[in-house]
Amino acid sequence: MAITHLLLLPLGLLLLLNPLPNVNGVGINYGTLGNNLPSPKKVAQLLQSTLIDKVKIYDTNPEILQAFSNTGIDLIVAVENYHVSNISNDASTADEWLANRVVPFIPATSIVAICVGNEYLTTDDEKLEPNELVQAMQNLHAVLIARGLDRKIKVTTPHSMAVLASSFPPSASTFALNLMPTMTAIVGFLADTGAPFLVNAYPYFAYRDNSGTVSLEYALLGNATHGVRDPKGYVYGNMLDAQIDAIRSAINALGFGNRTIEITVSESGWPSKGDTGDIAATPQNAKTYNTRLIERAQSYKGTPMKPKDKVEIFVFALFNENKKKGDESERNFGIFNGDGSKVYDVNLSCQFCSDGGTLGFGEKVSSGARGPSVWCVAKPHSDDKVLQAVLDFCCGPGGVDCREIYKSGDCFEPDKLLAHASYAMNAYYQMHGRNYWNCDFKGTGLATFTDPSYGACRYPQQ
Ligand SMILES: *[C@@H]1O[C@H](CO)[C@@H](O)[C@H](O)[C@H]1NC(C)=O
Ligand SMILES: *[C@@H]1O[C@H](CO)[C@@H](O)[C@H](O)[C@H]1NC(C)=O
Ligand SMILES: *[C@@H]1O[C@H](CO)[C@@H](O)[C@H](O)[C@H]1NC(C)=O
Ligand SMILES: *[C@@H]1O[C@H](CO)[C@@H](O)[C@H](O)[C@H]1NC(C)=O
Repeated sequence: MAITHLLLLPLGLLLLLNPLPNVNGVGINYGTLGNNLPSPKKVAQLLQSTLIDKVKIYDTNPEILQAFSNTGIDLIVAVENYHVSNISNDASTADEWLANRVVPFIPATSIVAICVGNEYLTTDDEKLEPNELVQAMQNLHAVLIARGLDRKIKVTTPHSMAVLASSFPPSASTFALNLMPTMTAIVGFLADTGAPFLVNAYPYFAYRDNSGTVSLEYALLGNATHGVRDPKGYVYGNMLDAQIDAIRSAINALGFGNRTIEITVSESGWPSKGDTGDIAATPQNAKTYNTRLIERAQSYKGTPMKPKDKVEIFVFALFNENKKKGDESERNFGIFNGDGSKVYDVNLSCQFCSDGGTLGFGEKVSSGARGPSVWCVAKPHSDDKVLQAVLDFCCGPGGVDCREIYKSGDCFEPDKLLAHASYAMNAYYQMHGRNYWNCDFKGTGLATFTDPSYGACRYPQQ
């Protein structure tokens, strides 16, 4: 008996610690250039118990670092481009940055990487010095070693695809000639420190600007039937794979072919809206791309060149950012609107995050992990028949106390199906642990950060 327990306990723990034997987590970019975004605390709550387990930000916003403490979500922080120069000056500036920006939040906040700059080598800013980038990375790594943090916190830098001289064919790609010395130093640094090479890769832009020659299916992470054949025999069904292998070839061409360097897609995504005439940026395309991207991120699939090397992926982006400059698409890469509703439907349910996780409307439920602290309401214009079925389910087998929406209740008015269904759906969602997937209701549910309560009608929130 006792022996059985001893054997079972470690196994149970093992399963708890590593419940995803063949599913990867998914990363997301959390940009904050919006004036209508929810507080970091709400964002952290929203993301808990979804399949998002890594969040990349563009600074060291202390509110965000605090909000993600004890969430089980890994954070990747950044040195802003304008700050790289100072950190490159000397180790003491680097240490001061680390001491002020990062150290106060660890270990409660799981910070796993520092991005030094963003697309530093390919921005138009003339003040940015390639040598300073390399030196800043080295300085930060040195102070991490001095503080015993270098195993946990990796130092890297995200590149745009513009660091390549050409990306086609993938097997023949090289870095731009003028960047070769800098890239050699950076890749050498990454190989020596075990940090990943980060690339921001957007098939969207390639498709938008060449829609006559690029097939939509190829750009949308589909399996384009004829694919693109590389002279070395690799066949590409989608452009993202070709972009990743182009980077790989460029790294190899620098002479690092026999070193292990993981390639991570630090940004990829597809906007739901663009300028007039942009036929690529539609909610449907965005939904297709990001759904496939998330599937791809969860799989252990590599690329044609390295089928067994899984690729970590950070979706761009969590929110639409209404204060971003540039064309309309720049403000519309988000999966979520500022109010926490989804721009289009993408399934972020996490099958393995908590016990019995694959819950959908009408299925058996378990009271499981605490989910995001948001409300769930009925989506406007939902099909009445489905809404009625949802309402009947919630107030019947779903176990919701629906007295408030009966004739004498505080939420009876407005006596509308949408309002009553909203009340019942929210109550069901709150009761069952506020898991993301408990606000699906056959596509009629909408998670929101905005309290739907009105007058005397209170929407409960746990
Ligand atoms: C960089 O250092 C200079 C000189 O100490 C200082 O004036 C400037 O504010 C620093 N820049 C940043 C971004 O901290
Ligand atoms: C893509 O299609 C080809 C040919 O139909 C097939 O062999 C291959 O397995 C498919 N790849 C994926 C990732 O579905
Ligand atoms: C990698 O290849 C180069 C050139 O072929 C060789 O000099 C070097 O020793 C190799 N390094 C490793 C780690 O195998
Ligand atoms: C969402 O994903 C989960 C986990 O993979 C799955 O079990 C569930 O059926 C999906 N829901 C929908 C509506 O596709």
